[in-house]
Amino acid sequence: MIFVNAFTFLFEKLHATYSSMLDGLLPLRSYIKISNIIETDKNNNPSETTENIDQLSESDDEQKAMSFTLKVWRQKTNEAKGTIGTYEANNVSPDMSFLEMLDVVNDNLELDATEPIAFDSDCREGICGSCSLVINGQPHGPGSGVTTCQLYMRSFEDRSIITIEPWRAKAFPLIRDLSVDRSAFDRIIQAGGYVSVNTGSAPDANSMLISQNVAEQAMDAAACIGCGACVASCKNASAMLFVSAKVKHLNTLPQGQPERKRRTSAMIEAMKDEGFGNCTNEYECEAVCPKNISVDNISFLNRDFLKSKIGDN
Ligand code: SF4
Ligand code: FES
Repeated sequence: MIFVNAFTFLFEKLHATYSSMLDGLLPLRSYIKISNIIETDKNNNPSETTENIDQLSESDDEQKAMSFTLKVWRQKTNEAKGTIGTYEANNVSPDMSFLEMLDVVNDNLELDATEPIAFDSDCREGICGSCSLVINGQPHGPGSGVTTCQLYMRSFEDRSIITIEPWRAKAFPLIRDLSVDRSAFDRIIQAGGYVSVNTGSAPDANSMLISQNVAEQAMDAAACIGCGACVASCKNASAMLFVSAKVKHLNTLPQGQPERKRRTSAMIEAMKDEGFGNCTNEYECEAVCPKNISVDNISFLNRDFLKSKIGDN
C-alpha cells in the first residue's frame, strides 16, 4: 500500500512538471487546445460543424458573385428604329466570359417571354472572328489582344453599368440587335485573297524554300481573323488594316508572286466598292485589333498598290 501511494505521488509530480513545461510553450499549447475544441465540437455535434463549413463556402461564393446593369442596343431590323434596353445581370461569376454572361441573361429573358438579345459567336476561343461587340465604347471591350469571347467578367467593376453596341459601319449593315452582316469582307477576299493553283499531283515537300524572315512576316499577317474591329474603331470605317493583313500574307510568299499586282489592285477596288473609308493614320485599328496586326502592313499595302499601278512588281 505504501508502495502504491508513493507511486501515485511520483506520477502526480511528474504530470505537474510536464504540464508547467507545456504552459511555457504557449503557441504549441494553444494549438493543442484549439485542436481539442474542434475535435470536441465535431464529436458532440458534427452536423453543426458541417453546416458552418457550408456557410463559409456559400458566403465565399456570395462575395465572388458580381452584378451588372447592361445597356444593350436593340433593333429588330436594319430599317427599324433602334433603342437602348436595360437589363440586370445578377449572380455573375467573375470567371464567366462576356458571351457566357449574355447567354445567362438571354436564358432569363426567354423565361420572361422577352425576345433574347441577338449577337454573333461561333468558336468562342478567339479564332473565327464572329464575336463582334462594342463594349463600353471599345470594340471587343477593355484590355488588348483579346476577342469578346475571350473577355472575362472579372475585367469589369462589380455593380457597374456596361453598354453593349454592334459594330457601326455602312459596309456592315445591321441584321438584328448586336449582329451585323460582315459579308463585305468575304467579297474582298473573293476579289483576290487567294493563290490560284493548277490541279495535279502534289508538289514535293520543301520544293519551294521560304526564308525564316518571310515566313514570320506572312504568319504574323495571317493571324488576322477578319473580325472587323478595325473597321468598327475607325472614324472613317476603313478596312485598310484587314485588307493590308490579307495582302501582306500572300504578297510576301513566293506562291503569291504571280498574282501579286492583280490581287492588290482588285482587293483595294473591292474595299472601295463595299463602302469602306480610307486610312487617315488614326491608329485606332491597331489599338483594338485582337491579333495585334500592325499598321506597318498598311504601308506595305500602299507601296504594293503604287507598284501595281506603275507596272513595277
Ligand atoms: S486586322 Fe485585326 S481587327 Fe481587323 S479584321 Fe483582322 S483581326 Fe480583326
Ligand atoms: S467567337 Fe470566334 S473569335 Fe470570338
